Amino acid sequence: MYHSRISGLGYYLPKKVLTNQDLEKMVDTSDEWIKQRTGIESRHIAGENELPSDMALKSSLQALKKSNLTPEDLDFILVSTVYPDQLMPNTACTLQKKLGISHIPALDISAACSGFVYALSIANQYIQTGTYKNILIVGTETLHHITNYQDRTTCVLFGDGAGTAVVSQNKDPEKGCIYHQELKAYGEMDSALFIPAPGAKYASKTQSIPNQYRKNNTLQNLSLTLEKNNEMTKKPDPRESKKQPNCDTSEKQDTYIHMEGQTVFKKAVKIMCSALEKTLKDTGGSLDQIDWLVPHQANERILKQFCKLTGFPEEKVIFDIKDTGNISSASIPLSMARAIEQGKIKRGQDILMIAMGGGMTSGSVFLKY
Ligand code: ACO
Repeated sequence: MYHSRISGLGYYLPKKVLTNQDLEKMVDTSDEWIKQRTGIESRHIAGENELPSDMALKSSLQALKKSNLTPEDLDFILVSTVYPDQLMPNTACTLQKKLGISHIPALDISAACSGFVYALSIANQYIQTGTYKNILIVGTETLHHITNYQDRTTCVLFGDGAGTAVVSQNKDPEKGCIYHQELKAYGEMDSALFIPAPGAKYASKTQSIPNQYRKNNTLQNLSLTLEKNNEMTKKPDPRESKKQPNCDTSEKQDTYIHMEGQTVFKKAVKIMCSALEKTLKDTGGSLDQIDWLVPHQANERILKQFCKLTGFPEEKVIFDIKDTGNISSASIPLSMARAIEQGKIKRGQDILMIAMGGGMTSGSVFLKY
């Protein structure tokens, strides 16, 4: 049997910084409120032409270098992002092209802030079965595009950035392995955290097929009617075929993150507590065996509440939200990479990752680094 080892990590934060003081000028908020309720002081914002795949490239090259590998050594690319470069091709394919490689499979994962942990868990299956030797897993987010900077309850939270890990095949578990993993989803909580547009649900409001054809409710009727209609056989001009969601204020609202803050907060704390309990139960371990908790950085208060309820020592938690904000699926690889850089996390230590996000989704991975 093979084991999964994180052979290297990398991260990237865009240059532009948006401080709490900047936000004070945009919405009715204060530096004091934001710091006290979230732990955030500033966040990074991607440049105008900076795409998720560009940031993914930078963090991935760093992760490959730390792994002593080249893009040619990769067998699979998994990218998690809430807001991809475009709907098709996926961002993983674009990243593959930017890495200058071809042929290997490339897949995007949509699991919001839990996306990196989902990707790690999927990568682990391919490594354990011996299918692949080196898998690139990336979280890359440009959340500022989907953040409403007129809504003080959400705009103070989010930032942009990318984080990458290379997961490699390894025969000796002492040199790195995954002890335990668990993924979950709570689809019934779809209204706690969501972005309505773009998507097929939203497209029904802006249908390009004229009304008289839409009332035919079978596919057969639709294709017969389309055949008869000359106008529909004309090649559509993509710029005219759809009303774009950005054209007026109410539709623009649909492209933003909507969140029930307190519902998410409470669920996030519950998810963290049960993930810890389940990990310890399934592995027969104790709190002492966990060297570091590398959680999704949604809000410092969520982490402190978790520590209070479980007795998990705050000194063993990687707190890394102050200058990044919540960067969704980039948060865990980025904060782990920075903790290694700062000399906190070391090889051979046991790390518990816990993430939760829109869906709602959640995931935990307990591993030896
Ligand atoms: N500045 C000033 N006041 C504010 C702000 C702000 N930015 N935002 C909200 N308020 C006000 C509210 O209007 C409210 O005023 P009121 O009492 O007059 O009605 C008051 O502050 C308290 O609001 P609450 O919503 O109760 O504030 P809370 O302490 O819950 O903090 C927050 C809000 C920070 C959003 C918190 O609920 C939270 O972090 N929730 C988790 C959400 C999260 O992390 N989402 C990220 C995505 S999901 C994920 O990554 C897991």
